[in-house]
Amino acid sequence: MTDKTVTLAIDGTNHPYPVLEGSVGPEVFDVRKLYNETGMFTYDPGYTSTASCQSAITYIDGEKGILLHRGYPIDQLAENSTFMEVAYLLLHGELPKKVELDDFTWTISRHTMLHEQLMTFYRGFRRDAHPMAIMCGVVGALSAFYHDSTDITDPEQRMIASHRLIAKMPTIAAMAHKYSVGQPFLYPDNSLTYTGNFLRMTFGVPAEPYHVNPVIERAMRRIFILHADHEQNASTSTVRLAGSSGANPFACIAAGIACLWGPAHGGANEAALNMLREIGHTSNIPKYIARAKDKDDPFRLMGFGHRVYKNFDPRAKVMKATADEVLKELNISDPVLDVAKELERIALSDDYFIEKKLYPNVDFYSGVILNAIGFPTEMFTALFALARTVGWVAQWNEMISDPEQKIGRPRQLYVGATQRNYVPVGKR
Ligand code: SDX
Repeated sequence: MTDKTVTLAIDGTNHPYPVLEGSVGPEVFDVRKLYNETGMFTYDPGYTSTASCQSAITYIDGEKGILLHRGYPIDQLAENSTFMEVAYLLLHGELPKKVELDDFTWTISRHTMLHEQLMTFYRGFRRDAHPMAIMCGVVGALSAFYHDSTDITDPEQRMIASHRLIAKMPTIAAMAHKYSVGQPFLYPDNSLTYTGNFLRMTFGVPAEPYHVNPVIERAMRRIFILHADHEQNASTSTVRLAGSSGANPFACIAAGIACLWGPAHGGANEAALNMLREIGHTSNIPKYIARAKDKDDPFRLMGFGHRVYKNFDPRAKVMKATADEVLKELNISDPVLDVAKELERIALSDDYFIEKKLYPNVDFYSGVILNAIGFPTEMFTALFALARTVGWVAQWNEMISDPEQKIGRPRQLYVGATQRNYVPVGKR
């Protein structure tokens, strides 16, 4: 709280509202009493100027291209940390000591298996079901199996549910891929790292041992870290809103997965690679740039633009460097990467993109790497959901523990018909 106020003058009456300041970033003015005092709502479709909560987990400065997780810059975490360490940091607020990290990693490893009956859920899907459809269904169904961790008023149950979700997402995602290619599911192997275990469950087969390629494991770990959390984005806000009603954590994360699937959000990584493939060659780029600029054409450059970043997305910079590194180390030359780099170069020198401050986002280069590793395009958003689960459960825990939290219930500007009387069908 500061001693500053923002005063709204309405019909000659001044209405002061307290200004709250955080540790860094924009101040807010508290309008919780606005409707009771003035009978007016604020109006902010898409929440472009609205702080929905207080949070200490992730800070983004969109103008400076800064992304901090509990104060640590994303590029430092991507370079030096592991996904388990970042998960602990997001959940508990501090980098773990070695004994804490070992204990957390061991705990997560004890939850990597699914209830055996959940295997039958996969059999109900068509083999060509989109992996995100399977993720929505299976994650939501977890609440039918893990009743002993659905009481959100019990901090211990909240943490068990959080551990279960973080631990089981790789198993669920890998099984979705296996089901789509008609191969048998592999059980988790807890002698491997979190990322190595996921790679083995995805690409291994029972017929032979699977050796985790350290280049791929390092790239996958970095990709997971880059996707772990991102302030109050659409899917995180969905998880918070679902959680505000007291819904169980598995249902809340399933809601987040559903929201992430959209092409304007997490679905953009799949759409971006499909777009780059459709462009096909650098000679076709001008045509697509023109389409992206054409107000009458719904086409957008997928993987470009961001609600918050009006400068570069720091994750995209790390992702671009990782794409170069991985393709070189795997000795893969992918013309799509050349198209992506040339598209970025041309777009960033075009007045339209400059004035609208459109830069590559986290989704622009990720698909090139995931494709090189061997994931089908349809799996890209499922990987985003796997990684973002640590952010979702951290934000969900923070919301439940927030003494100010209450059920989210926005209002509206009503523009429909005013009251009128019913007319029998014979008189219409
Ligand atoms: C993610 O919120 C997060 O933090 C999300 C995320 C996370 O980690 O959780 O970072 C992950 O979702 C990244 C974004 C992935 N989506 C895409 O790449 C899809 C393509 N991008 C856009 O659809 C768009 O940029 C959004 C959805 C990302 C942001 O949209 P905004 O903030 O609502 O901006 P807008 O749609 O109002 O666009 C502003 C202007 C518009 O032009 P005008 O109407 O002002 O004339 O920029 C134009 C848009 O037409 N524009 C684009 C464009 N993105 C915006 N024009 C061409 N190509 C694009 N990609």
